[in-house]
Amino acid sequence: MHHSVYVFDAYGTLFDVHAAVRRHAPEMGPDAARFSSIWREKQLEYSWVRALMGQYKNFWQLTEEALDTAFALVPSADKSQRQTLLDSYWKLDCYPEVPHVLKTLKENGARLAILSNGSPQMLEAAANAAGISDYLDEIFSVDTIRTYKASPDVYEMVTTHFRLYPEAVSFQSSNRWDVAGATKFGMRTVWINRSQMPDEYADLPPKAVLHNLEGLPRLT
Ligand code: LAC
Repeated sequence: MHHSVYVFDAYGTLFDVHAAVRRHAPEMGPDAARFSSIWREKQLEYSWVRALMGQYKNFWQLTEEALDTAFALVPSADKSQRQTLLDSYWKLDCYPEVPHVLKTLKENGARLAILSNGSPQMLEAAANAAGISDYLDEIFSVDTIRTYKASPDVYEMVTTHFRLYPEAVSFQSSNRWDVAGATKFGMRTVWINRSQMPDEYADLPPKAVLHNLEGLPRLT
């Protein structure tokens, strides 16, 4: 075992952010996929702008505001689904390999944690719904420090808590910009490139790239 601490991004890495809209695809109409992308992109944009401005609102509020923007931009989407979609966000599907990979790492003696923009309540609910809470030693939420990724202060929550140097932490995220942030902070990073995206942030490369979490226990 090369790393004793594995830290995971939540949304997009463990939990499928597009599961909410996909579950209600028939009601969401022909632009359901575009609607879901806009919801996610606006949620992230709001987090970056809030962090830069120094005017924090929690991730649940940003998720609601982003959803309303998506409805405004995609008139074909059925607004009566608003509450249903929001409710789904508290019990998103995790990706299929997630439970057994976390279980394997845990059985190998690693400590596991989530580090996420999500509010503590959102993360706890999602982890419970996905049945992975028992594998997690910690859930770190940016809400504790009231800013957002990719601020170095966010990644520092992990090293402060575990009293480790950044390079002792293996950080996994499907979000390339999040990998860049953790790499800049000094963590060993694995980009979980689930949707075959082109590389970005070439000056802040991940240590490894995987298409899902499957190969993680065997990485050196
Ligand atoms: C998170 C965002 C990046 O979980 O999805 O932190």
